[in-house]
Amino acid sequence: MFKIGVLVSGNGTNLQAIIDSINNGFIKNARIETVVTNKEDAFALQRAKNNNIETKIIKVKSFENKQLYEDALIDYLKEKELDLIVLAGFMVILSEKFVNSFKNKIINIHPSLIPAFSGEGYYGLKVHEGVLKRGCKITGATVHFVTEEADDGPIIIQKAVSVKDDDTEETLQQRVMEEAEWLILPEAINLILNKKIKIVDNIVRRIC
Ligand code: GAR
Repeated sequence: MFKIGVLVSGNGTNLQAIIDSINNGFIKNARIETVVTNKEDAFALQRAKNNNIETKIIKVKSFENKQLYEDALIDYLKEKELDLIVLAGFMVILSEKFVNSFKNKIINIHPSLIPAFSGEGYYGLKVHEGVLKRGCKITGATVHFVTEEADDGPIIIQKAVSVKDDDTEETLQQRVMEEAEWLILPEAINLILNKKIKIVDNIVRRIC
């Protein structure tokens, strides 16, 4: 059984997409071993509990500094012997030490077509705000491997979504989730668990 750990900070609709994909058989031979959050009031926790998935709250503020927080997170995730760590709306930037502790085993969902509107400062609604301010006609979402640079790792899947003239940040966020994020995140997990991709020179290639 392929063991997945999901890190969340908020609503958890991407977590829900993974749960649903396992429950309806789109993702086979996998289970979510744990859902970890830095926010004790994250609704994602409720989604995990509704599905009898173990949850763990590890808050940055409980530690003297960020490194000690990350060490605790690394220890906990190592204990779980995970095959894959999914950052699904996890709003903590992770250090090189964290990334190297789980090399090529961490993926992230980002609500834009990377490299547009990505990197430090671009998260959640801020991404969609940037897209609307720039007058983009197309946006989308990206699933990528996580490296020490924010939103910079090898791209696994991207999906484009149209921007409408009357979009607000909220309506655009919702459409990007519905038309892209909730589809490509389970697809990316399948590609990894079925060993359909490899990383060559920092680029994700399909294994035929
Ligand atoms: C999603 O749109 C996700 O792509 C984004 O946060 C939202 C979380 O929603 N992530 C980032 O911005 C990371 N840079 P969710 O909690 O409902 O899955």
